[in-house]
This record gives sequence, C-alpha cells and structure tokens, in this order.
Amino acid sequence: MSYLIGIDIGTTSARALIIDALGNPVATAANDYPMATPQPLWAEQNPADWWQAVCQAVPRAIHMAGIQAQEIRAVGLTGQMHGMVLLDESGEVVRPCIMWNDQRTAEECAWIMDTFGRERFLEITRNPALPGFTAPKLVWMRRHESDHYARARHLLLPKDYIRYRLTGDYATEVSDASGTVLLDVAKRAWSGELLDKLEIPREWIPHCVESPVITGTVSAVAAQATGLPAGVPVVGGGGDQAASAIGNGIVEPGLVSVTLGTSGVVFAYADEPSSDPQGRLHTFCHAVPGKWHMMGVALSSGGSLRWLRDTLAHSEVHVASLTGQDAYELITAEAAQAPAGSDGLLFTPYLTGERAPHADPTVRGTFFGLTVRHDRRHMARAVLEGVAYSLRDSLEIFRELGISIREVRGGGGGARSLLWRQILADVFGTELTTVNVTDSTVYGAALLAAVGAGTFGSVPEACRVAVRVVERTAPNESQRRVYESYYPVYRSLYPALKASYDQLAAISTF
Ligand code: XUL
Repeated sequence: MSYLIGIDIGTTSARALIIDALGNPVATAANDYPMATPQPLWAEQNPADWWQAVCQAVPRAIHMAGIQAQEIRAVGLTGQMHGMVLLDESGEVVRPCIMWNDQRTAEECAWIMDTFGRERFLEITRNPALPGFTAPKLVWMRRHESDHYARARHLLLPKDYIRYRLTGDYATEVSDASGTVLLDVAKRAWSGELLDKLEIPREWIPHCVESPVITGTVSAVAAQATGLPAGVPVVGGGGDQAASAIGNGIVEPGLVSVTLGTSGVVFAYADEPSSDPQGRLHTFCHAVPGKWHMMGVALSSGGSLRWLRDTLAHSEVHVASLTGQDAYELITAEAAQAPAGSDGLLFTPYLTGERAPHADPTVRGTFFGLTVRHDRRHMARAVLEGVAYSLRDSLEIFRELGISIREVRGGGGGARSLLWRQILADVFGTELTTVNVTDSTVYGAALLAAVGAGTFGSVPEACRVAVRVVERTAPNESQRRVYESYYPVYRSLYPALKASYDQLAAISTF
C-alpha cells in the first residue's frame, strides 16, 4: 500500500498525519512545545523544539498507523506562517524564531512603507507591511541585534526549517513566501526590487516553488531521527492557512472557510490576485498552482478561549484532569447555559493586538457591558460570540468587495464545538458546513504530498476525491436576530475605544 504524511508546525504543537492513497486519514500524533514572551507583545519559539516534536510525533503516527515506513511515498509540510528563522553559515539557528503573533515591529512597518512608497509596495506584495509579517522582523533585527544580523546567512519560515532538517535544502513555496511580504504575489516569485531596496541579501532567500512540487528528499540522518524512509520526497507544502483551505476543499470560487486555531481566519479562493484597496484583508498565493486567495486574520480566536481556560476555568481544567474529559468541552457546556447574546455582555478578542480588520498592535481585549448578574457562563459564551463577531468583520469586507460566498466551511480545533459552530452560523447568518476531516491544516499538507507523489493529478482533483461535506449547521432564526442586534454594538467598540487604547498603550506596556 501507499501512504502519505503531512507534518504541521503549529503554534502550540507539531502534528503528523498519515493518509492512504485515497485520502483517508489513518493515524495522527502530536507533540507540544512552549512559546516564550520575553517582553510584552513578543512571541518566540525555539526551532529545535519543533524538530524534537517532529522526531517524536512522526514515529508515533507511523506506529499507530501500523504501516511500514517504506510505504510512505511523500511528505507534505505546513506550519504557522510569517515566523523568522535565521540560520548561520553552518546551518545553526541564530536566534529564536520571531513568530506570526509577535507585535514588536510597528516602527519597522512604518519605515518600510515610507521607504518603499505605499502604492508600489501594495502593487508588488498586494499587502501592507504588518507587524506579524517576516520582512519587518528582519529590519527589526538589523536595527536591534546587529550581531545576530551579521551572523545570518539563510532566512527560512517555520515549516521550511523542518524541510531543512529533513532534506538539507533551503526551500519554500509560494503560499508561505507571500506572508514574508518579499514576494511579488502576482508573479509568484521573489521581488528583486523589494529585496534590494530593503537591503536584504538575495543569497539569504530560499528557493521558491509551487506548493505540490518536490523540493528534495529525506536524508539518511533525518531518516534515523524521524523514522521516515531515507530518499522519500518532500513537497513544498503550504502556509497553514493555504494548507487548511486545501484540507477544507477551498479550491473554487464561492467557497469560503473559517478556521478556528489560535488565530481565526476567514479565507476565500481567488482566480486572480485582486486585493483590498484598504489593506484590511491579505492577498496571498494559494497552494493551488497559479491561483490566489484572500483572507482576514484575527490573532486570538482559539487563543481567546485558551486564555479563558488558563485564567478563569481552573475548576474545569481540574475536573477534566480527573475524569479524562476535555476542559474545552466542559467550558463550552457551561457557555451553552447562557442565552444567545450573553445577556448583553460583549467581548472583543484583541488579546494580542489585532490584524484584521483593525491592523493595530495596541488594541486590547475587552469585556463590555458587565453587570453583577453576569457569571462565568456569560463570560465563556461572550468569548465564543466575540470571536464570531470579529470573524464576521472579515466576512463583511468580502461581501463589500463583491467576493462570492456560496458556502462557508468551518474548520480548525474550534469548529469541533457544536456550540461554537452554531454561534458562527447565527452570527454570520449563513449555513456553516464541515467536512469529513477536522485537522484540515495537516490534512491539506498530506494531500499536497499526494499530488507531488502523483497519487492525484492536481490539487483540485485531490480535494474532489478526498474532501466531503458531512455536516451542515443552519442558522437558528431567533438567535440570528439576537446577534443581528448586538453586532452593531460590537462594531462600535473599536472606533469608540481607539483613543483609550492608544492612551493605555502610552502608559502600560503589559
Ligand atoms: C496567517 C497567520 C496565522 C498563523 C498561525 O496569516 O498569521 O494564521 O499562520 O496560524
């Protein structure tokens, strides 16, 4: 038999998923790693931790699948986007990865846009320079860590560091490369103009391919460390959002996905590299060769629920540890006891600043409308609802830009919750579908591996064969009306509080 493996370098863990040649998931395993916040708004991870987690998760997945490693035909990589991994001349990591949710580079973003000229920058990259993106991080390092900058020789994205460890190749693919804002997104190639003007050495930049293209093969050393067979091909793969879209079958116009991971992403397929003139949504290359996508990224969606679990739900966490239940299920069961609209309690999920639709590192999370009658059930429900409102903000921009929305597919860990799916359907006012696979990101990477190995003729063909809608959540009319009346209140909070957020940021750096 033939099998394919996807490997995802997520924000909280590395996951490996093995699928068979028909696209059926066979076994999956994950290993966690920590994230450091050495200063307020900073987020860093150690690439060595990712590699260690891969070396544990991959053999476990192979073992659980009950297959011979030699039956694996190709590897597909995916992972958190935008992270800056720098290697020195001998391939050693220069400093911890500065991650996608790190917000330290506001000044560098302004400098890039001024130096380059906003219009020309948007023309090439289709996006403004935003704090999470990679290029501003390089500029930050040049300014603040000149010794590290002097040692650097290779720039890689998180999943591409794993490629380097697996194959020894410095390579990436177009979907993740788009998030560096160093790519000419319409031409699907690095922009020499950008690199030169920003004085980023061209030799640092990895070879860039379309997502299903093979970039190299697993080395003997990596085979020893991971249990993968030596010589098995590794395909380009995709940034986590493009890969998740493949796992959700978002490969034709009219299909939109909403993925609830740490971030929350509203994602639409595009035949052309059109962009939002106001820069609120990103336009990146899709993992479907020659195609693009637009997306709105909220930074703390699942991240807000994780915050609630870690700070306000100690008893649920304790009960879960005693009974073997999932703490999130206990929390959402409590949230379900509060009515739609949480009796007038609203939550803005800007816990790590925000990207879409408000690209603003200084904005903060808010509980708004608290009274003595509210309790933890309301707070939990308000968090789920606030995330849904923030994703609707991006959906509204799609509508405003005339992007066709025929079907909205929910994915990511958060979409496992029936309550959250219902809230999303009610807040969006549309049916929410889910597909046969829940780990859409790593599944998408495995499908890209299958295309690279020739198991499927193309990415859309792989999706047609493997991805099926299995569940539909229709909006509940009375709840939809409740949310329709609260949504304008939610929308009014950012403009109303903007000056206060700025005042706060001037005093508190927490
Ligand atoms: C996408 C983004 C996040 C990260 C982590 O632009 O920043 O989705 O990739 O999931």
